[in-house]
Amino acid sequence: MEPHAWTTDPELGILGYSVVRHRWGSGFAGEGTACATAFAFCDVGLARLRATALRANLASRRALERLGFTIAEFGVEEMPAYGGPPRLGDVYMLERPDWLATRPGGSSQHDSRALREPIAQQHEATLIGRAEEAQGSPASQ
Ligand SMILES: CC(C)(COP(=O)(O)OP(=O)(O)OC[C@H]1O[C@@H](n2cnc3c(N)ncnc32)[C@H](O)[C@@H]1OP(=O)(O)O)[C@@H](O)C(=O)NCCC(=O)NCCS
Repeated sequence: MEPHAWTTDPELGILGYSVVRHRWGSGFAGEGTACATAFAFCDVGLARLRATALRANLASRRALERLGFTIAEFGVEEMPAYGGPPRLGDVYMLERPDWLATRPGGSSQHDSRALREPIAQQHEATLIGRAEEAQGSPASQ
């Protein structure tokens, strides 16, 4: 059987993501996918990204569409990893020039670190918060 063309494209990356359930709706997928996309295009130098989102997964679709991903293949069936009937989704694609055109300035001068910075700061703040919680913060003493 011939492999699908996209599986042999060395300039294509697959974007996949998952957020722990108790943090859903906090914007992590939006920021995470933005960072991963910037990393793929600016640091790794990929030409295009592919992602599959289920029809029912509105948050995932929104995160992709916000970055400029568009549907390249309608109505693909995905087999759930833990069994059950296939579920309907769509394949999204994003080409590097299209993504760059959506960036401020639209140039390849984009620095993906600038996008990663807010996540790193948030992560650090969370860790500090947890450490203070574990020790009993000054405010609670
Ligand atoms: C899909 C998933 C990654 C979303 O993560 P999340 O951190 O909750 O998403 P965000 O909070 O960043 O929201 C992304 C966008 O969807 C919107 N959104 C969130 N929940 C939504 C909902 N129930 N309906 C419609 N839009 C929704 C947000 O407002 C945001 O849009 P905005 O940037 O315009 O405000 C998360 O639910 C998950 O991990 N699911 C299980 C794994 C999975 O499905 N992975 C994706 C495979 S394609």
